[in-house]
Amino acid sequence: MDYKNIEGFPQGFMWGASTSAFQIEGAWDKDGKGESTADRRSSSHVHQADTKIAMDHYHRYKEDIALMRELGMKSYRFSIAWTRIYPNGNDAKPNEAGLKFYSDLIDELLRNNIEPIVTIYHFDYPESLVSQYDGWVSRRSIDDFVRYAKTLFEHYGSRVKYWLPINEQMVMAIQPDLLGIREENPELLDKKRHQANHHMFLAIAKTIKLLREMVPSAKIGPAVSYITALPESMKAEDTLAAEDVNNIVSFSLMDIHYHGEYPKYYLKYLAERDWMPVMLDEDAEILKGARPDFLAVNWYCTMGAKYAPNRVDQKRVDDGNVQPAKTGMIEPGIYEIIKNPFTDYNPWGWNVDPVGLRLALQRLKQRYNLPVMITENGYGDYDTLVDGKIHDDKRVHYLRAHIEQMKLAINDGVEIFSYNPWSFIDVLSSSNGIEKRYGLVYIERTDSDVMELKRIKKDSYHYYQKVIASNGEIL
Ligand code: BG6
Repeated sequence: MDYKNIEGFPQGFMWGASTSAFQIEGAWDKDGKGESTADRRSSSHVHQADTKIAMDHYHRYKEDIALMRELGMKSYRFSIAWTRIYPNGNDAKPNEAGLKFYSDLIDELLRNNIEPIVTIYHFDYPESLVSQYDGWVSRRSIDDFVRYAKTLFEHYGSRVKYWLPINEQMVMAIQPDLLGIREENPELLDKKRHQANHHMFLAIAKTIKLLREMVPSAKIGPAVSYITALPESMKAEDTLAAEDVNNIVSFSLMDIHYHGEYPKYYLKYLAERDWMPVMLDEDAEILKGARPDFLAVNWYCTMGAKYAPNRVDQKRVDDGNVQPAKTGMIEPGIYEIIKNPFTDYNPWGWNVDPVGLRLALQRLKQRYNLPVMITENGYGDYDTLVDGKIHDDKRVHYLRAHIEQMKLAINDGVEIFSYNPWSFIDVLSSSNGIEKRYGLVYIERTDSDVMELKRIKKDSYHYYQKVIASNGEIL
């Protein structure tokens, strides 16, 4: 629907930006930090930059926060590396140096009037827990996660109001190497990844209840990879296939958190494939009554879907990339992901479809009616330094178009209270090293050469600065 009168962003809207620990910090084994699955995964990508130095944010966080302040950021969404706090994931005592790093970081943000939004765990699971007991596959993982979260609430609870327990749990269940699950047997791998997913649901529910006891004024919500699939045609079976993608990949997770139980369609999906995790009697009680305060959504693009008949010669196909539903991916009997001919794509096959964001936000309102913060939204591209500047016009276009649609969604009645595009500075992409850049701030380095790691403001930084200064009036 078009509007004649458009209301602006609410006063106090939190304009921010996002990063995660392993993608920017570096100092991967400094001051007692242990190895994470992200460290190991990145060093196996031989031609890509790894987590050892990354963007050296660990040593330059004050310089980075000064840039945030100059940009006008009101919030900053970042993650804590579990292996800085507990190097082995479950050590007898937390690592004081790790606690101090994040304490100083939070203080520096607050001094600069920037609200910290903290992801407790973003793709960087302690390797030691994988060796000790197969990580999330074991039920022991639940207590270790909750104990780690408790340590964070004790140390930072009085200073951090917004918490996100686990980033993109469903993506990790679809790409289980992110969880450190290394299993050759495909049937066993499927069992393990769904068992791990179930344990993460329980860990999040317990963490939400714990935060309510320890810091009643704090707010917590899951950080979800939110996919919006659109049907290829007007055939009802294609619409159904697109809805199945949305349900299986995104809404199942939000449904479980919101309703405190697995929805029937998801139970059927698991049971029909023989992927049903082991669930104990007590699990129903654990999941109940842990409704989040808000939804934190990572939304990048739409994708096309059509019905894929269940033929014997068809197998589940994916390309090993982190984005969970890529062109060509097939779930026999459910859907095939197809290219959308109506949209542009970035060089990695992610499309630009801003109206899809408005649709996605409307659906959240209809289904859950919870406040929403956008914790990721951004454009990955090769950026080239020309005369000391980065003219990232496509990223500026992407941001403008998505902010416009977010504004319309607010007019539609969706309660959105914060926007944190991905990413503040260039990060290590989860699968494509540093060549796939997202930042508002360029980091001068390549995959093979660490260089000086100079921070250079891109055109998108200057654009977003004006957006923030005008509270979204100048787009
Ligand atoms: C999200 C992750 O899935 O997408 C980020 O939370 C990631 O960590 C981002 O960087 C973009 O994906 P990629 O693979 O391009 O880095």
